[in-house]
Amino acid sequence: MKTIAVLTSGGDAPGMNACIRAITRSALSKGIKVIGVKRGYSGLIDGEFVALTSRSVGNILHTGGTILKTSRCPEFLTKEGFNKALANIKKAKIDGLIVIGGDGSYRGALELAKAGVNVVAIPGTIDNDLHYTDYTLGFDTAVNTIVQLVNNVRDTSLAHDRISVIEVMGAYCGDIALNVGAATGADYIIVPEVKFEPKKLYDRLLQNTKNGKLCSIVILNEKVAGAGELATMIAKNTGLDVRPLVVAHIQRGGTPTADDRIMAVKFGAKAVELLVSGNSGQAIGIYADKVMSVPLDKAFENTRKFDMELYKMTQNLSF
Ligand code: F6P
Repeated sequence: MKTIAVLTSGGDAPGMNACIRAITRSALSKGIKVIGVKRGYSGLIDGEFVALTSRSVGNILHTGGTILKTSRCPEFLTKEGFNKALANIKKAKIDGLIVIGGDGSYRGALELAKAGVNVVAIPGTIDNDLHYTDYTLGFDTAVNTIVQLVNNVRDTSLAHDRISVIEVMGAYCGDIALNVGAATGADYIIVPEVKFEPKKLYDRLLQNTKNGKLCSIVILNEKVAGAGELATMIAKNTGLDVRPLVVAHIQRGGTPTADDRIMAVKFGAKAVELLVSGNSGQAIGIYADKVMSVPLDKAFENTRKFDMELYKMTQNLSF
């Protein structure tokens, strides 16, 4: 293993930069050269490679986004694009590739592994939707960012006796909504994993009002409905004063939490270790507080289930 390359792909996530730094310095400390691939799989296809040095990854640990930039790359799914990427990997004499990203990026990594490339994948997405691992890089930061915003919304909602509907990301995974809801004492949490019954929501909000609770917070996953649309429906069916908020990309930026930074260090070091020991074709994760890895093709299996227990607990607390 003389040269390792690293790329970030899909939606950026806080902690990606800390992970790039950890990978680069772990590899350099073993005498391995490091190449950064720009803009994810697009950069593999176009041969956009930069040398990463200890200095070029300095002062990035605390920053959000990704210094390598990222993209979603439909061209990589074509035979022509894929073959171009393979040719560039060979040409640059890349012995091992580390992919940091979410499920789409993992599918690309799996295809490269099948084509004989030594690949290791690191879960980097705010969605926490790779279910072989307890956590993905960026999730903790996104949850904490949204919690701060909900605190602000609560102040003004309370001042006006309003209902606030707050739409969060997470794709088809309700983990962001659930954790934000639990941490902010939300009155109702709407996630893809639990069938949404609007009448139950209206009844809960009206009951809250009867109980003298005039400000309620509803946390809504982006794939179940839009905040604007739901706020209109609530107002129409309850007569309450409702305001929508789409948190959008604010939740994806910002300085990573200590947990995300520490996880980035562990994941980055582990990825280099796996490549050096000849154990490629693996996806790194964390399970019961231990860093571990599973074969890439097993990374799509649904081993961690939605935390229904926490969901039910939150329901019992909102009255
Ligand atoms: O996968 C990360 C994510 O932020 C999802 O939560 C969200 O659905 C999507 O990306 C948004 O994508 P884009 O940044 O391309 O609008």
